[in-house]
This record gives sequence, structure tokens and C-alpha cells, in this order.
Amino acid sequence: MTPIPVIEVSRLTKRFGDLVAVDGLEFSASSGEVTGFLGPNGSGKSTTLRAIVGLNLPTSGTATVNGVNYRDLAYPLRHVGAFLDPKSLPKRLRARTYLRILATSNDIARSRVEEVLDFVGIASVANKRIDEFSLGMAQRLGIAVALLGDPEVLIFDEPMNGLDPDGIRWIRQVFSSLAVEGRTVLVSSHLINEVATVAHRVVVIGRGRLLAQGTVDELTVRIDAAVAFSSHDNEGLVALVRGRGGTVTRSEENSVTVLGLDADTIGQLAMEARIVLTQLVTLRDSLEDSYFELTEQSLDFSVGH
Ligand SMILES: Nc1ncnc2c1ncn2[C@@H]1O[C@H](COP(=O)(O)OP(=O)(O)OP(=O)(O)O)[C@@H](O)[C@H]1O
Ligand SMILES: [Mg+2]
Repeated sequence: MTPIPVIEVSRLTKRFGDLVAVDGLEFSASSGEVTGFLGPNGSGKSTTLRAIVGLNLPTSGTATVNGVNYRDLAYPLRHVGAFLDPKSLPKRLRARTYLRILATSNDIARSRVEEVLDFVGIASVANKRIDEFSLGMAQRLGIAVALLGDPEVLIFDEPMNGLDPDGIRWIRQVFSSLAVEGRTVLVSSHLINEVATVAHRVVVIGRGRLLAQGTVDELTVRIDAAVAFSSHDNEGLVALVRGRGGTVTRSEENSVTVLGLDADTIGQLAMEARIVLTQLVTLRDSLEDSYFELTEQSLDFSVGH
């Protein structure tokens, strides 16, 4: 199945008074994939997701699902399932009652309520009032709400919040299986490691702007990766590397580390000078380092430097 862009955010801008929460944002999320939507606190993730499901109106630009605005869907829950905010659950209702109300108003069979309750593992507590739920139970109920209409598009805002490690593993499996079924899954997080193992692609934003999008691997090497080499003439190759604008960040007996040139270029320089290379590797930053480097310029709240 070829991934097809389903959620499309195009030149999306959202202002709150003087504050530009989302600033010309452009990205898409495709069918059959889990797309991780990443950014530090306050970077505009929730504002963007709310725009996609019609909970706020863009100042300019568009956010569509299959080319239409969420608000124009007759039975939205049957096309787009979203869970954005545990606080938006109606606290005084029983979980089962709430799902039944949603099912009725979206013309969904009542039997589906029991199916989703079983699936998220809260059937035995579904007669409790939602205000008696733990955060983890509320997250599971939110996922049940999103899945209720068997939609082809699923949107979750920080769904791992409040889940224990077992719950996090479970939710990753849920996302993967939804994507395998060909659905489009968009999941926000401010922690890259939460989504790295499950996301096919990630979109990283900072201060409402797109910083990067691509596969997790692409994100890891995108950032000025260092290259290490050893050769029969390290001094000679260092001179050539410097001549090409590379910076030597470490030079040990046997290995030289360079920033600013990729491995291809260094290999080419060595070949042209007939210097025998004995080692040439791209040193990957850890994913978390890359993410941090990418977003640190756009942190709203930074601690002590
Ligand atoms: N209704 C609103 N009125 C005014 N400002 C708002 C409103 N909603 C969001 N903002 C502001 O917009 C910016 C982006 O907020 P948003 O909630 O989208 O960030 P986020 O990436 O979801 O952050 P977090 O990781 O903390 O959930 C913040 O500065 C926030 O204070
Ligand atoms: Mg948020």
C-alpha cells in the first residue's frame, strides 16, 4: 500500500492576539503510517491538532483531512477519531454512557461501544463515573472514543501522558496495528523517544514553525553529523579537509573526527590524493541529541544556561 497524504496542513497560521502560536506550518500525514508530531512545550502542537479537527479556526492557511475541512463532515467520528484532551471528557458521566451517547449521535451501532471498551481494556470499570478514573484509564477511554466510529484517520495529543510502561507499550502496538490496517495515525509528543520506535515519519516544530520532517533515521543524521576517519596519512588528509572547509574536532593517534564535510566528500579527497583510508564512518548522534539540537533554539522555557 503506497502511503497517500491524508492530513494536509498548508501554510497554517494561528494567532492569539499578538502571539503567533502556529506560523506558516506545512506538513502532511499519510495513510498506512504513524506520523509523530514533535515539538517542545508551547511549540504549537495542540493548536495545530485542534485546527485539524475544527476546534479552532486558522488565522490563515488550511488544515484538511482528505481535502475537506473536518467541520464539513456529516458524521465526523466515522472519518476522523481524535483524542486531544483528557480534561474534555464529561466527568460526571459514566464511561459507558458517554460512549453510548457519542455512538447514537454519530449513527454508530451500540455494539461497537462494547467492542471498543474491550479493546482498550476498561470494560470492567466502564460503569464508573469518569471523574473516578485514573489518568491512565482516562487516556484509554479517550482512545476508545477515537476508535468508536472505526475511522480511517486517528489523531492523538500526547496520548502517552499518564500511562505506565506497560500502557505505553500497549499504545505503541495499537498505533502500529492501526497503521498496518492502512489508517492514518498522527500522534503528538514532546519526547522523541516516546514515538521514535513506532513513528514511520516525524514532523518536528518549534515556535509554531516546521523544523524538520522525515524518517526517524533521516532526523538522526540530518544534523551536521560528525565523520571519523583513519588513513595512512592523517596529517595530509587533515590539511585537505581543512582546505575544503571541514573542522577537525578531535585528532587522536589513530582517528580524526571532522564536522562540516560528509563521508563521501572525505572519501573523494582521500582518493584524489591517493591516501589510503583504513576507516571512514559517519558518527550518528543519538536521536535524542539530534532532536534537542534541532529544538533548542526554539525552547520557550529553558533551564539555567
Ligand atoms: N486559546 C488560547 N489563547 C491564547 N493563547 C493560546 C491558546 N492556546 C494556545 N495558546 C498559546 O499558543 C502557544 C502554543 O500552545 P500549544 O498548546 O499549541 O503548544 P503545545 O506544543 O501543545 O505545548 P505542550 O507540549 O505544552 O502541550 C503557547 O504559547 C500557548 O500559550
Ligand atoms: Mg499540547
